[in-house]
Amino acid sequence: MELSQFQIHQFSIPLLDPMWLFCKSLLVVVLLLLTGTSAANAAFPSDNISHSYSSFGPENRNDFNFSADANDNQGALQITPDSINTPSYILNKSGRVLLSRTFRLWYPSEAGTVIASFNSTFSVNIYRPSNTTPPGEGLAFLIAPDAHGPPPGSYGGYLGLTNSTVDGKLSNRIVAVELDTVKQFYDPDDNHIGLNINSVVSNLSASLTPLGIQIAPQGAVNYTVWISYDGVSKQMRVDMAEQGNPRPTKPVLEAELDLSHYVNQDSYMGFAASTGSPDYQLNCVLAWDLVVQDLEYGDKNKKRGNGWKLTVGVAVGVVAVAAVVLWFFSKRCWRKKKTNPSPSVLEGTLKFLPGMPREFDYKELWRATNGFDERMKLGQGGFGIVYKGVLAGEGAEIAVKRFSREDNMNSQDDFLKELTIINRLRHKHLVRLLGWCHKKGILLLVYDYMPNGSLDQHLYDGGGRPLLPWNLRVHVLSGLASSLHYLHNEYDECVVHRDIKSSNVMLDASFNARLGDFGLARVVDTGKTSYAELEVAGFPGTRGYIAPECFHTNRATRESDVFAFGALVLEVVAGRRPCCTDLPDFHLLLDWVWTLHRDGALLRAVDARLSGEFVVDEARRLLLLGLACSHPLPGERPKAASIVQILLGSVEPPSVPLFKPAFMWPVAVPFIGVADLTGASASTLNASSSGWTPPLVTSEDVVSYD
Ligand SMILES: *[C@@H]1O[C@H](CO)[C@@H](O)[C@H](O)[C@H]1NC(C)=O
Ligand SMILES: *[C@@H]1O[C@H](CO)[C@@H](O)[C@H](O)[C@H]1NC(C)=O
Ligand SMILES: *[C@@H]1O[C@H](CO)[C@@H](O)[C@H](O)[C@H]1NC(C)=O
Ligand SMILES: *[C@@H]1O[C@H](CO)[C@@H](O)[C@H](O)[C@H]1NC(C)=O
Ligand SMILES: *[C@@H]1O[C@H](CO)[C@@H](O)[C@H](O)[C@H]1NC(C)=O
Ligand SMILES: *[C@@H]1O[C@H](CO)[C@@H](O)[C@H](O)[C@H]1NC(C)=O
Ligand SMILES: *[C@@H]1O[C@H](CO)[C@@H](O)[C@H](O)[C@H]1NC(C)=O
Repeated sequence: MELSQFQIHQFSIPLLDPMWLFCKSLLVVVLLLLTGTSAANAAFPSDNISHSYSSFGPENRNDFNFSADANDNQGALQITPDSINTPSYILNKSGRVLLSRTFRLWYPSEAGTVIASFNSTFSVNIYRPSNTTPPGEGLAFLIAPDAHGPPPGSYGGYLGLTNSTVDGKLSNRIVAVELDTVKQFYDPDDNHIGLNINSVVSNLSASLTPLGIQIAPQGAVNYTVWISYDGVSKQMRVDMAEQGNPRPTKPVLEAELDLSHYVNQDSYMGFAASTGSPDYQLNCVLAWDLVVQDLEYGDKNKKRGNGWKLTVGVAVGVVAVAAVVLWFFSKRCWRKKKTNPSPSVLEGTLKFLPGMPREFDYKELWRATNGFDERMKLGQGGFGIVYKGVLAGEGAEIAVKRFSREDNMNSQDDFLKELTIINRLRHKHLVRLLGWCHKKGILLLVYDYMPNGSLDQHLYDGGGRPLLPWNLRVHVLSGLASSLHYLHNEYDECVVHRDIKSSNVMLDASFNARLGDFGLARVVDTGKTSYAELEVAGFPGTRGYIAPECFHTNRATRESDVFAFGALVLEVVAGRRPCCTDLPDFHLLLDWVWTLHRDGALLRAVDARLSGEFVVDEARRLLLLGLACSHPLPGERPKAASIVQILLGSVEPPSVPLFKPAFMWPVAVPFIGVADLTGASASTLNASSSGWTPPLVTSEDVVSYD
């Protein structure tokens, strides 16, 4: 769906030209013929591509690309030099031999990515020429993006796969199964099989020693290695046995692997190997049997002529022509009526944004996200879906937010709001905007990818991530406080975020907090303290983080941001969601913590899963800060500047009344103008305004929204 939509939109020649109309119809017919026939083919078993070699030599040399130091000799592929008599020539070498053709290993489809299955069975003789020096380094079956030789510097532990510069980079686009004969610090031993993704550090490895296999024993032994990959179950299985023996029933290594995430759609297959110094070995491949499922089978088959399929295709095509003609005429009428071509207004605005980051090509982002693949989805919010992406070439990891709303105008609105706000903000605790893309109604924003996901994933069961330890919780909250301070006070206009919550706090590789999702943020004119809002559907935001006054005012203020921050502080310390927790008598986490505070048992609120591993004084400060920020009266809440100081430890947290004060509307005391309430002054003010009333009106009564 996505693809054809995109292809059609590639052309923007005037619609009224009859020649163009004709060409376009033709194009659509061709497209539909293609989809019509390939859909028909899907029901048929696909063919396989086979390459079978029982020996190697001049008769099949042209099938392969040999790197400089690789060769075919004595009926075998010598992936590294085989000059036994001159060991110095063998040392520190790396090589590759790859079939000089590509295999289509996956393609995106509406029903999900289709991945090719394959079997690669080969026999090797990894020969240790010297009984005095140990063997080194290893040989690997390799899936690579090109047929070039190994990168420079890939000898030794790099196995002809990577080098010290590129190891581990997603842009390598390689997957390999290594037979490793040298133990590096990351290896289990000097005799193992490993599955390697873009790196020589295996994602999974298994020692062969318990199976009685020695890859490079004293004296030559030929081994057979079976690698099976099933593109449907995404399972890889590797077996190894002495040549002549049947395939063992118990695998050496089994792994779940989605090849489409790591290798190019059209990839090369073959072998890589290296030697070290003083350790060396001969890396010989004696025979190879490769069967790869042919994903392009349907297309080829069509050319051979498949009568009834073609008929179906033509029928579909005829219907399509009619549809297309109708579509064009309706579109033409619609165009005429339309007075305000909003896309160009949008583009105009984008072009003139100050310091605008780069504009991305839609195609580039489409490719980076694997066609907005469901499995690349990082999250979903009210304003769109966020996908992970990898930029081809650069290999940079990105997060792509795709705006989606039922009606396009609102979506554009959201897009522009977020873009204009975050574009101008620069702070190390805000998610960085890299660029944008607007392509015929599809709106995309591109951000730095945050490898550690969002904060909530580390507090609750988030895909098996370990529980966030105490020191990181404090670290995250400190970072967040500084970003809040920046938004409220340091940036030249005051920005209220309006949707501070744990799922909008992203964590970078070093667990620094990065506040994200500026979909709701608004610039507040300096001078005014809030942004008047006309939201029909009630106050935007997330339950448990919304300050009580917002239900009355429908206005976001710095104080309501601070309330949300307070809810977040309590959440991070307690490891419980601010709203609708599993606490028996409390709807809001806040009310529970306040009760514990009254009972002098504040520290009982600390996340029990930490098993007592936290700093008591820090926990107490944070809980008091969280309560102070959650004060029902907006003017009583600390300001971002004092929050930063409290988190630094340079200022004591405000003293918090033992009973949660009642929320009163309208707010009795004019708080605007009261600068930086801290400690004593806050509670004095509180005492005068609410008289420390026990909670007759609980926040539950007030939170009747939604
Ligand atoms: C291709 O491989 C699949 C899976 O093993 C098999 O079912 C099918 O029969 C093979 N096709 C041919 C033409 O060998
Ligand atoms: C092989 O490479 C290592 C590390 O780069 C180096 O120390 C050693 O001298 C090299 N040996 C030879 C024979 O080039
Ligand atoms: C690969 O081998 C396994 C086990 O023999 C077999 O089940 C599977 O169909 C094969 N796949 C292909 C693509 O030939
Ligand atoms: C690989 O081999 C083919 C055919 O021999 C040749 O056309 C191609 O240029 C080679 N590619 C590389 C990267 O050496
Ligand atoms: C690693 O390979 C890349 C190219 O693939 C090259 O630019 C880089 O210089 C190499 N690094 C070393 C240490 O040789
Ligand atoms: C495993 O593979 C992934 C690729 O998804 C890579 O990013 C990661 O670093 C690998 N892990 C290890 C331990 O090598
Ligand atoms: C290993 O394979 C080679 C080439 O196929 C063969 O000449 C040799 O005899 C084999 N060695 C053993 C020990 O089976």
